[in-house]
Amino acid sequence: MTLVPEINGERLLGRLDAFARIGATPAGGVNRQAFSIEDRSARRLLAQLALMRGFTIFQDGIANLFIRREGSDAALPPLMIGSHLDSQPTGGRFDGALGTLCAFEVLEALEDAMIEARRPIEVVAWANEEGSRFAPGVMGSMAFTGTDTAAWKSIVGVDGASLATELEATIAALPEARLRPTGMPVSGYIELHIEQGPSLEKELTPIGVVTAVQGTRWLEVCIEGSAGHAGTTGLSYRRDPMVAAIAAIHRLQTTIMPLDASARLTVGRISAQPGSINAIPQSVTFTVDLRHPQLERLDAIEAEVRAVCAAEVDGQHCSATIRRSFDMPGAAFCPDMIKIIEDAAESLELTYKRMISGAFHDALFIARVAPAAMIFVPCRDGLSHNEAEYVEPADAIIGARVLLQATIAAASRPTRTR
Ligand code: GLV
Ligand code: MN
Ligand code: MN
Repeated sequence: MTLVPEINGERLLGRLDAFARIGATPAGGVNRQAFSIEDRSARRLLAQLALMRGFTIFQDGIANLFIRREGSDAALPPLMIGSHLDSQPTGGRFDGALGTLCAFEVLEALEDAMIEARRPIEVVAWANEEGSRFAPGVMGSMAFTGTDTAAWKSIVGVDGASLATELEATIAALPEARLRPTGMPVSGYIELHIEQGPSLEKELTPIGVVTAVQGTRWLEVCIEGSAGHAGTTGLSYRRDPMVAAIAAIHRLQTTIMPLDASARLTVGRISAQPGSINAIPQSVTFTVDLRHPQLERLDAIEAEVRAVCAAEVDGQHCSATIRRSFDMPGAAFCPDMIKIIEDAAESLELTYKRMISGAFHDALFIARVAPAAMIFVPCRDGLSHNEAEYVEPADAIIGARVLLQATIAAASRPTRTR
């Protein structure tokens, strides 16, 4: 008798609760930043659950964690499904965790029903997707797909921690996971994620089929002025980098997005050195996160940021250096994988809509080496990177059911290159 694989909704929701307790914040979110003690605890819990089910676990040199269920043809490259377990400093409990735990639920559902898939299937928790502690983000999938990581050795986190040290400790904290080289052939990749925007909820559509991800660029602007006494330095003697930074940010915020509805510009971090209440700062550093679906527009907006900063800095007799810390061109997903997800939604009689992701995801990098696509589920008020992030339990389960059907289809599809 063949059993029909089914998502166990209660088990999935219980797991979401259990992981939300790791790094839980008083306001109901999570702080489980990459390679922290909390991140290590979440990885440990997932590894334990996997070992209890008899799956094999691996990790690689950047601490990507893989849970493998063999297929009937073990020689085939695995189909990968998953997301990430690290979070923003005041993150929500679903960003990344939902996709990782839905993927694990799929693996368990196949195991429960004793389904033998043709391809091996691996659940993956990509390392440092967020990049909020150690920039850049999507480190795990970048390294996995061949990005040169030599320069990452010297990265220092916002809390002063060394990436190299924290990464080593994270890998060492999971000795049960066999080490394997970073990067390997993959037959396909499907990532489920919350939309992180409002459209699915507003349109009462349970499933988003993601066809592409827009591009992201991160800049670090450092404005250098001259430190001075707050009480004695008259206006004409000041070279105040804070004044220049505020003017530049204000100009950018009142021009870039109001003039281009597809553009996104965010200044998420600003710091003054030495940061003393009664001293004009010597320097001010701020970050700029830029997004746009069109590469030419991203280039034009970056040029605009540089020009505005140069002008405002000049006005205050300061100087600026602008460093690109991250450049992730957008990408379109594979039509075959998109179709597999649409077919999965249709087989469950669910409405869906095609959409472009405003957030970046590990799938963007995996799409460079394997057919990839993503499933979105609605989240309340489109809120994400916020402790109040919320997904209706029914929507989480529906997403997992679509992921299950898509996984079954993708794990048996004929081998072909992209
Ligand atoms: C991902 O976390 C993003 O910032 O898009
Ligand atoms: Mn995410
Ligand atoms: Mn995120």
